[in-house]
Amino acid sequence: MAKSTTYDVRLELVHRPRRLRENPILRSMVEETRLSPRDFVYPMFLCEGRKVRAEVPSMPGIYRQSVDKALEEMEETLSLGVRAVILFGIPSRKDPLGKEAYAPQGIIQKGVRAAKKAFGSDLLVITDVCLCEYTDHGHCAPVSEGRILNDAGVAIHCKTALSHAEAGADVVAPSDMMDGRVGAIRASLDDAGFEHLPILAYSAKYASAFYGPFRDAADSAPQFGDRRSYQMDPPNAEEALKEVALDIEEGADIVMVKPALPYLDVIRRVKETFQVPVAAYNVSGEYAMVKAAARLGWLDHDRAMMESLTAIKRAGASILLTYFAKDAARLLRNQGV
Ligand code: PBG
Repeated sequence: MAKSTTYDVRLELVHRPRRLRENPILRSMVEETRLSPRDFVYPMFLCEGRKVRAEVPSMPGIYRQSVDKALEEMEETLSLGVRAVILFGIPSRKDPLGKEAYAPQGIIQKGVRAAKKAFGSDLLVITDVCLCEYTDHGHCAPVSEGRILNDAGVAIHCKTALSHAEAGADVVAPSDMMDGRVGAIRASLDDAGFEHLPILAYSAKYASAFYGPFRDAADSAPQFGDRRSYQMDPPNAEEALKEVALDIEEGADIVMVKPALPYLDVIRRVKETFQVPVAAYNVSGEYAMVKAAARLGWLDHDRAMMESLTAIKRAGASILLTYFAKDAARLLRNQGV
């Protein structure tokens, strides 16, 4: 008589979750999280000049480009179903106060005007409101005797946000992490008749190592010290809820957590605590890691990308700022989604 081996075991199970995983059609029908190109915001770096298009070495596929070239890429982005961009500026001049940030002929102001002229309401143009790309010291507010001046920074961010609004921006996104900037920007916009313009606040923005490649792209690394006196400390999550609560009280319409993948718990808690849309920034370092590992043959690029973006959405973000926007949209289109 044959002895029963482990292979002959037959469990009497009522629940077999695997039943829903076997058939690919059924598997896709029970998917709880589904990405769409409409979820994505594509970050772009604008610089002065004409016909300039220089790849950022640590961000393959991402370029610093002049406005004419950026318009071509916006057209491509739209054709892939990605309908929103966030613009970062690389000015030709930097100074201690970051004056180019609010110059009427500044790079962002020119870029926004050109984008709105070319694409009108087909494209949502979000502008990053910050100073680190515009100051010679690379901090997000003016500096005096080594200290980062909060209130002076807020005053400049208000002017910057207003100049973006005047240029035609659809949404302004303050990313500086100065205290009180959302309320102050809201008041300045309202005073100037832009009460309809939404604010996407970088509310829980951590002092992260994952911004490294962005600082190459935007030439915005601090020239002394670091950003830890204004960006959040990575161990803190309760504090993120406080930052988000303050921004909502001050008038933020959408709140953002940044970076995304190392802070999925924060995204989830913000989503469960507040009744406003949550955005997440899948930042430069998160992008660079996947690109680098894929180049080395250590990761499957497309699978790692989709898994990352799906996780960010599953955690609770409905708006995903990501350098993968075009790659992911192309993949979704090829899959017939
Ligand atoms: C600051 C800003 C940064 C990013 C977006 N806005 C950099 C920083 O705080 O140093 C980082 C985005 C990324 O890494 O992709 N204005």
